[in-house]
Amino acid sequence: EIVQVTGREILDSRGNPTVEAEVRLAGGALGRGCAPSGASTGAFEAHELRDGEPGRYAGKGARRAAENISTALARAVTGLDAADTYKVDAALRQADGTPEKSRLGANAILAVSIAACRAAAAAQGVPLYRFLGGAAATRLPVPMMNILNGGAHAANTVDTQEFMIMPVGAPTFQEGLRMCAEVYHALAGLLKARGLATAVGDEGGFAPDLSGDDEVIETLLAAIQKAGYTPGRDFVLAIDAAASEWKDPAKGPGHYKLPKSGTEYTAAELIDHWEALAAQYPIRSIEDGLDEEDWAGWKEMTRRLGGRVQLVGDDLFVTNPARLAQGIGMGAGNAVLIKLNQIGTVSETLETIHMAQKAGYGVVVSHRSGETEDTTIADLAVALNAGQIKTGAPCRSERVAKYNQLLRIEQTLGPAAVYPGAGAFQIPL
Ligand code: PGA
Ligand code: ZN
Repeated sequence: EIVQVTGREILDSRGNPTVEAEVRLAGGALGRGCAPSGASTGAFEAHELRDGEPGRYAGKGARRAAENISTALARAVTGLDAADTYKVDAALRQADGTPEKSRLGANAILAVSIAACRAAAAAQGVPLYRFLGGAAATRLPVPMMNILNGGAHAANTVDTQEFMIMPVGAPTFQEGLRMCAEVYHALAGLLKARGLATAVGDEGGFAPDLSGDDEVIETLLAAIQKAGYTPGRDFVLAIDAAASEWKDPAKGPGHYKLPKSGTEYTAAELIDHWEALAAQYPIRSIEDGLDEEDWAGWKEMTRRLGGRVQLVGDDLFVTNPARLAQGIGMGAGNAVLIKLNQIGTVSETLETIHMAQKAGYGVVVSHRSGETEDTTIADLAVALNAGQIKTGAPCRSERVAKYNQLLRIEQTLGPAAVYPGAGAFQIPL
């Protein structure tokens, strides 16, 4: 039974305020949860409540959200059984009363939702992945590791937001993580030798001034080889274009203009671009290759590439069951990115994942570019047997914390642990 809920304003990995909640149960068990925060935020995400006081954190303060945790949300869940996640979340949503969670803030609501799950797990003496997933939770995720940052996550010349490596040929998660870290260091060496910057972006990947997708991919392939691995066998590549950031406001929907290079595309031309890249390189996953409102483009892209490439909807689906149902219905995308704070509660996130799995869509559990030390997504990925996790480079502790938690889980599971490798994809590899 929940007896106390406390909110506080803390800092995220970009030095911006976010919220943390603590939930205490009658038996003394304590759970804590933190809300992350995006930069290339989707237009259809649940509402992140900010104070908007210009004199404080440039308007980004989260004191009201923290206050809402300690007051309205605390009142809503006090006395409830923390182990009944659906009931706790329903009470949180009802206290807010808006579809976007804009009154009390999705950031505030999510922090409490996570904290309640953690308190319940602590009270039962089980790890979080077991509390959320039961005995069937044995599948470790393949990292979709972002080692080169661009777009809104880095002040460099690269428009595509994320270039990622996936160790599909590894026998275990632990070995996959090692292989990724080795490629990351090989990449640092290559960049240094070319006189390029090795400072990192928001998700820990390097952020050098490279010319575009081809040059970045060639550099990544060279790094994989330098580390002693074979592209296409040991590793495949994944991209997050975050193309909702490329809307051309002058020309309207279906038209794209890359903010840094100035290159313009129609939707059809952008699909051609992705098709050519996937034909030339071992790219097996493309996220947000088109804009969040370009449903017709998504349908066409899926028709053309969906049999060979995992097409992940992030801003398109925003972890929202209604938007995912629309995508499944019309054949838009074949995988979903899962971000707890896009929808705002643990139970709605579980609903979206179950819907995706039932439809044969791939599931990629994801961090945000603004993160905290909270490692819930690592447990969530195992709990739901998602198969893939996107949580940045092997650099910056808020990213590494998730990988380290997965190492703990894999060790705890022992021989029961399963690393899916290429089997993580719903498409044939
Ligand atoms: P965000 O980026 O957290 O800044 O939205 C992550 C992503 O686009 O996948
Ligand atoms: Zn994305």
